[in-house]
Amino acid sequence: MAKGYNVLFVTSEVLPYSKTGGLADVSNSLPQALNSLSNEVRIITPKYGQLDERRLQIHEIKRLKDINLEMAGKKYKYSIKSSFIHGKNTKAQIYLLENQDFFKNKGIYQNIKTKKDFPNNDERYMFFCKAVLEVLEILQWKPDIIHCNDWQTGLIPFFIKTMYKNNPHISDIKTVFTIHNLAYQGNFPKTTFKKTELPDELFNDNTVKFHDKFSFLKAGIKFADKVTTVSQKYAEEIRTNKEYSCGMEDVLNDRRKDLVGILNGIDNTVWNPSFDKVIDYRYTYQEIPLKYENKRELLEKHKLVYNENIPLIGIISRLVDQKGFDLILDAFDDIMKEKLQMIILGTGDEKYQKFLMKMKKKYNDKLIIHLGFDEDLAHKIEAGSDMYLMPSKFEPCGLNQMYSLKYGTVPIVRNTGGLSDTVTNYKDPKKGNGFLFDKYDSKEMVKTIRTALEVYQDKKTWYNIMKNGMALDFSWNISAKKYMELFKQICNKK
Ligand code: ADP
Ligand code: GLC
Repeated sequence: MAKGYNVLFVTSEVLPYSKTGGLADVSNSLPQALNSLSNEVRIITPKYGQLDERRLQIHEIKRLKDINLEMAGKKYKYSIKSSFIHGKNTKAQIYLLENQDFFKNKGIYQNIKTKKDFPNNDERYMFFCKAVLEVLEILQWKPDIIHCNDWQTGLIPFFIKTMYKNNPHISDIKTVFTIHNLAYQGNFPKTTFKKTELPDELFNDNTVKFHDKFSFLKAGIKFADKVTTVSQKYAEEIRTNKEYSCGMEDVLNDRRKDLVGILNGIDNTVWNPSFDKVIDYRYTYQEIPLKYENKRELLEKHKLVYNENIPLIGIISRLVDQKGFDLILDAFDDIMKEKLQMIILGTGDEKYQKFLMKMKKKYNDKLIIHLGFDEDLAHKIEAGSDMYLMPSKFEPCGLNQMYSLKYGTVPIVRNTGGLSDTVTNYKDPKKGNGFLFDKYDSKEMVKTIRTALEVYQDKKTWYNIMKNGMALDFSWNISAKKYMELFKQICNKK
């Protein structure tokens, strides 16, 4: 194989340091997968206030301590610390950017105490992007490519082609910008643009101006050498359908030639029922009775009765509109009328949290609600549930349906984005692995849940559906190679 590439992977969240959603999983596993294909990928991320340096083995780099940086006429200092993420046979170096002005408080995008977005998120991530570029001059390692992820990193491609266009250390570095979610755009007032100290002419419809706002996401899409998103279906949806494009259809169509959908992989060593370190009973398809032991443990721990014939539906999710919670709210009583049990783990919008707490009281003999973020419980739900409900309004990729398939937990999903690319209708005896509905409508969802409940009673068919899902390979092998292909195209290496 050709020699690989030096890649700096820039992300605002990465496991085990920070996580609000799937980006953290991808930022951990994709760099490692690329490293096992002979690339050298290093990660850089902010060192948020909650990070415990000792527990996470974060070390100082003397040479990269107290570096000066100027932004919007003010002087700041930052330091780069180092650590490693490890997989079973892989690892990646990670740089953590420490700064007392922007990343001292606890919280990623929101202050943990107030649960409100940091009011200076524009400056926080502008500072991060600028520091990522400036540190390259003293890092003694040069990336061929900077792989940026989501709006928080969108200014990097823009700055390379404007602010640093005459800087020989930086100007020739290529960029890939991955959209994990088009709905989060990092749009800020024009006053934020002033803080870049770039000439006003650079703020226009052809650059970073989006409905009079300064859009960090648009900056990434416009200026990166390649733009990717995390499934093929979503790549098509956001270009062709106004319901998905969040106003960016023209911007995306302009980059049509350079826009690619690459499905996320999953970390097979972490999300795998035969290795999973967290679950009580590890199992393969040949050992499904052990899956039911996990179900028993999960239910009994939460004081519900285990009954083999009553299916348990799991949900692990951010409680936001994207994930279809308005459908779930609308249909809750109808769902609860059925012969089933349900477990929901989530955190997010107040209105959904309140509603779920109300439902918990109403249906306490068949419903478990756990509000909060709990990585271990997430594994236990994947292993112990029979079905997984994910009725998303839109879904760029979605990891939980892939985790579910691996755990023999049959997904019931809306036919959109990455859910379409990974779940196949149960009726296909060779490939069928789940239940899909098309229209974003609570009645359609309930109808599909009822079908799943019926099919569940036919054990032979159900086992076949589980088997088809568990046999799939969602490892990064295929997708990491697609990123390599892209790197090759932009670097013209043989
Ligand atoms: P998104 O990134 O849009 O939230 P994904 O399906 O890509 O959706 O990824 C969600 C990730 O976050 C999964 O790893 C899921 O298990 C995890 N997750 C979401 N909510 C919680 C929670 N409350 N506790 C633990 N893990 C959670
Ligand atoms: C986003 C998307 C989700 C995707 C994840 C990782 O948060 O909402 O669909 O799986 O990013 O790419």
